[in-house]
Amino acid sequence: MALLHDHDLAHAFDDAARTYDLLTALNPGYQTDLRRSARRLRLPDEGAGQHVLDLGCGTGASTRALLRAAPHARITAVDASSGMLRRARAKPWPARVRFVHQAAEHLQTMREGPFDAVFAAYLFRNVTFPDSVLASVRSRLRPGGRLVVHEYSLSGSVVHRALWTAVCQGVIIPVGTLSGDRALYRHLWQSVLDFDTAPAFADRLSRAGFTGVRTAPVAGWQTGIVHTFLARNDSAATTEQTEQMDQTDQTDQMDRTGQMGRTGQMGQMDQTDQTERPA
Ligand SMILES: C[S@@+](CC[C@H](N)C(=O)[O-])C[C@H]1O[C@@H](n2cnc3c(N)ncnc32)[C@H](O)[C@@H]1O
Repeated sequence: MALLHDHDLAHAFDDAARTYDLLTALNPGYQTDLRRSARRLRLPDEGAGQHVLDLGCGTGASTRALLRAAPHARITAVDASSGMLRRARAKPWPARVRFVHQAAEHLQTMREGPFDAVFAAYLFRNVTFPDSVLASVRSRLRPGGRLVVHEYSLSGSVVHRALWTAVCQGVIIPVGTLSGDRALYRHLWQSVLDFDTAPAFADRLSRAGFTGVRTAPVAGWQTGIVHTFLARNDSAATTEQTEQMDQTDQTDQMDRTGQMGRTGQMGQMDQTDQTERPA
């Protein structure tokens, strides 16, 4: 089945936003796992003086996890779906939390940053060119800044792959169909099967220039299915390196699909439709 990309994916999330919190509440451990991953950023002094980017913040579940881990941090939360952001903004937040409508592919155009840390929960599996987004993230991180990625990324074992398909066919897709969002939940199933295994994503982080890359499994039924990745930016990425990663990514995509992805369309949306509003 064809995966959703860019605008199509953002629209699917716009539609699913109304039931997203309800469905994630049915997933045992969703909030706890996010909080544990956010704590892995190890922000000093409860985040005082730190500026953190929540990339792909959705309805704010990962933003809330960051706030719990670092209650004094300033947080910029970014998402490509206006529907998901509307739900996030409707919740109560301290003034130092700000939501921005922006695609991860266009971080370079953000006025804010550099950031002391970046948290990306359930994002990277959804981006068309992960290497170029990783290069942008690295270029927006201060030297010494940390990245934590919390993602559906299979261990590589056939047992975990089969368990993921069984949970999707038996629970996630039927429930998603009832909520009217079948295409998005089928995308969730297939995108996890197609995405990097945990060792492959750790390699991808290293190739992007991150150091100290470590992988940790989450607890519960998602062991072997969801992993937390920790990485550090030891030096500022140069523009030349970022451009090289873009090139590699696009060649990769050409190899996989025989045609170019649609990131260019997303760029247009950002230039014409970038809204920023304090929470
Ligand atoms: C599965 S949700 C996760 C939301 C939140 N981080 C959480 O933990 O609940 C993925 C989010 O990533 C956003 N997203 C997907 N692709 C994106 C992109 N290229 N740039 C920015 N956000 C993106 C979607 O709109 C959606 O809100």
